[in-house]
Amino acid sequence: MNKRIFKTGSIAAFALAVGISQPVMAQESAFFDPMDRIHPVWAENGMVSAQERLAAEIGRDILAKGGNAVDAGVAVAFALAVTLPRAGNIGGGGFMLIHDAKTGQTHAIDYREMAPQGASRDMFLNAAGDADSDRSLYSGAASGVPGTVAGMKLALENYGSMEWAEVIAPAIRLAEEGITVTPELADSIEAEREHLEKFRSTAAVFFKEGGEAYRPGDRLVQADLAKTLKKIAAEGPDGFYKGEVAEAIAKAVQEAGGVITPEDMAAYKPILREPVRGTYRSYEVVSMPPPSSGGVHLIQILNALEGYPIGALGQNSGETIHLMAEAMKLAYADRSEYLGDPDFVDVPVEALTSKDYAAEMRRKISADFATPSVMIKPAGLAPYESDQTTHFSVVDKDGNAVSNTYTINLNYGSGLVAAGTGVLMNNEMDDFSAKPGVPNAFGLVGGDANAIAPGKRPLSSMTPTMVLKDGKVWLVTGSPGGARIITTVLQVIMNMIDHGMNVAEASTAPRVHHQWLPDELRVEEGISIDTVRVLQAKGHAVALKEAMGSTQSIMRDPETGSVYGASDPRRPDAATVGY
Ligand code: DON
Repeated sequence: MNKRIFKTGSIAAFALAVGISQPVMAQESAFFDPMDRIHPVWAENGMVSAQERLAAEIGRDILAKGGNAVDAGVAVAFALAVTLPRAGNIGGGGFMLIHDAKTGQTHAIDYREMAPQGASRDMFLNAAGDADSDRSLYSGAASGVPGTVAGMKLALENYGSMEWAEVIAPAIRLAEEGITVTPELADSIEAEREHLEKFRSTAAVFFKEGGEAYRPGDRLVQADLAKTLKKIAAEGPDGFYKGEVAEAIAKAVQEAGGVITPEDMAAYKPILREPVRGTYRSYEVVSMPPPSSGGVHLIQILNALEGYPIGALGQNSGETIHLMAEAMKLAYADRSEYLGDPDFVDVPVEALTSKDYAAEMRRKISADFATPSVMIKPAGLAPYESDQTTHFSVVDKDGNAVSNTYTINLNYGSGLVAAGTGVLMNNEMDDFSAKPGVPNAFGLVGGDANAIAPGKRPLSSMTPTMVLKDGKVWLVTGSPGGARIITTVLQVIMNMIDHGMNVAEASTAPRVHHQWLPDELRVEEGISIDTVRVLQAKGHAVALKEAMGSTQSIMRDPETGSVYGASDPRRPDAATVGY
């Protein structure tokens, strides 16, 4: 276990170097007994960390009977489509990182949704030329062509060891036999009642006859979804992308004002991409490349922060949060300008993730003052919204690993279940920039690089990540949270590397977030008022908001191969289980 050491000397040296004026308090050599800390889950062989327990246990059982991390990961992805319907999916898309311990290689699978051929740049502008978020979020037009089924097939075929039908079987059983509704599931359905009731096909799945809510303890059966999963199990991705299911999806989407055709469905392709790589102190960071912005900005921010003695400055101290916020702002400003689908635009990945560029960023950062966002780029205020995506991590006994984040975008996606299929459709089209400078549901702004075009993939913030030590997997992590995903993953990594926290402590510690626009430093409950005052004195507009992220993380001890994991306490149904 890491030990936490605070050294006054290095803080004083840094304070002198960058001109921090106020006295810095520090504690000498505080060694914490590993027994007296918040505990991760421990297991000797393998582990799954996911946002819902039944799905995590299915993955764990596959590992225990000899399946590898990819077998387990694919099974978890299908299971979550049943047990965590607000985010787990086959009607959405995402990204999977796979580490192969034998070859030492890490692969990235992009199974992000694609804009249908009938999509166009201005499709979400109304007659007045304004972006219509109701249409980009809650209509047939909100959905991109789903990628999850094709992505899982690519993963299993290339890197798994079990049969396709075998890893889907547990999900079919859960859909057919039903799952026990938890308080979290009941609450999440009720919170989206307005959107889910809009479509009769959806209401029939998530409410009882007459619209009565499912209560904790009730059984939720998803018979149509079971039927669709059986077709997928029997016919492979063709059972989803061709024939009955594809036609039903196209019909439902078109009836709800969208343009997906059976041809769009048949044309969907997942893509194997090179992960983005960087280093942070003595660790290697491997993450998702575009069309996610996650990996690029995670590495960019880590690179910038590497130049400061973050560990000595202290976890969630005013000085540390200030430096983090300043680096975040610069990165999110770049995001709005440069990031998009690399098959359509040139994304300067190398430049953005270089150590030289990080040095340039540090030159723009003042130790004393928050640079107003307007001085970084023209500003505009943007709202935040609630959201849902989900991440799971898997490590097997051989040190292979899967880091997977997938989504239907907001909670329960567009709210549209294609009649007869049980498939809940995503509202990922909202991740495109509907109009330059106009924020999306996460307050993110963009321009040309992320404009809508047929066949293009919307820019994402999903950041499935692995941190390697000497070429071996050390940490597997990721999170939902829209724009906050990148900074959430950042903080788990910094909490462990800079602040010596174990994976449970790193997952629990209060989080902060700045995304350049709006010019607001968002903090969770638990950041002390003293810290807030330090930040305010530097000019930050600090806003206390609801909890951010739901990390599902596993740390592997490279010496023993034992695994330590933690599910974010911010989500009650999450579970980390091993064997
Ligand atoms: O791809 C993205 O960045 C968003 N669609 C993710 C949405 C999300 O994380 C919502 N979750 N909490």
